[in-house]
Amino acid sequence: NPHCHGENMQTPHRRTPLHHRGPFNSSPSTPVVCRYIGALGARVICDNIPGLVNKQRQLCQRHPDLMQSIGEGAKEWIKECQHQFRHHRWNCSTLDRDHTVFGRVMLRSERRFVYAISSAGVVYAITRACSQGELKICNCDGQKRGRASDDRGNFDWGGCSDNINYGTKFAKAFVDARERMVKDARALMNLHNNRCGRMAVKRFMKLECKCHGVSGSCSLRTCWLAMSDFRRTGDYLRKKYNTAIEVTMNQDGTGFMVADKDFKGSTKNELVYVENSPDYCLTERSAGSLGTAGRVCNKSSRGTDGCEVMCCGRGYDTTRVKRVTKCECKFKWCCAVECNHCEDLVDVHTCKPHKRPDWLDIT
Ligand SMILES: *[C@@H]1O[C@H](CO)[C@@H](O)[C@H](O)[C@H]1NC(C)=O
Ligand SMILES: *[C@@H]1O[C@H](CO)[C@@H](O)[C@H](O)[C@H]1NC(C)=O
Repeated sequence: NPHCHGENMQTPHRRTPLHHRGPFNSSPSTPVVCRYIGALGARVICDNIPGLVNKQRQLCQRHPDLMQSIGEGAKEWIKECQHQFRHHRWNCSTLDRDHTVFGRVMLRSERRFVYAISSAGVVYAITRACSQGELKICNCDGQKRGRASDDRGNFDWGGCSDNINYGTKFAKAFVDARERMVKDARALMNLHNNRCGRMAVKRFMKLECKCHGVSGSCSLRTCWLAMSDFRRTGDYLRKKYNTAIEVTMNQDGTGFMVADKDFKGSTKNELVYVENSPDYCLTERSAGSLGTAGRVCNKSSRGTDGCEVMCCGRGYDTTRVKRVTKCECKFKWCCAVECNHCEDLVDVHTCKPHKRPDWLDIT
């Protein structure tokens, strides 16, 4: 298939808005550019994705079309990660030259969050691709047939229910493959956090319905299960990150225990970590820290985005920049809003670079 090489392999980025997924609108609207990639093509593609372990390469060769969804998913979860940490020293940035599916710098830092959100991202992307008919191997959830009921009464399953079970199953096989290579505390922790990520997507599945019946009386309903916006998963995992639980490895290396002897309860739905994070003040690539030199900070905030915290006490530089905003907006009959462009000057504060210790200057 000549369309399956190089850039042409990308499917156009498209999302079916949720409200288009009702029973009368459930077939995918855009043709899939590359549904079939020959065995040779798959080999070439999979051999050229850096950073896959053997098992992942095998899965890639068997399901090259799923790799595309995973790649699109990665853009999405990285964006979500950066949104969640935009006000923090660690901001989920990737190296520009890092073309691996999971940014290398990120994998080394804040693992509990990165593992959870990346595996959630894979679940999300695969599940969505199934529903949109982009993949050979899966489709809408075939189990959601016939009648069912919720707290509002009976309904008929219809339309396309998101196949979260398939997405979860594949994400487990693919994402966990990397951790199954070694058996140590870190691998166990990663597997645990991967699972939390997968479950987070499932947690926010929601029932969407269309009403039928006399003049919208809603006496008849057709419903389908749909994933919520990925932001919900991001917000949830971010909260879990804040309350993550420190664990240590069992004596025999088969599991982990909570470090705090007084901890009561279950870690089942909590993110866990085995080592504390660095402070991310300095550039330290081996720890996945890019430092905060040059980061924009907020002078009036006492939080993590405040200059004091963000700049680690090194101080900040202030530059005055011109800002153009819309102003003096007027409503014009009918129906437009007309605005002027106003300019004002605002101070932008950025963290100073780390100063070399004085003793280095004494020669
Ligand atoms: C994150 O921080 C690094 C330096 O610490 C900076 O170069 C990068 O632009 C920031 N990324 C985002 C998305 O804010
Ligand atoms: C800076 O922080 C203050 C206090 O938290 C907040 O009110 C303000 O909106 C922030 N400014 C920006 C530009 O984020």
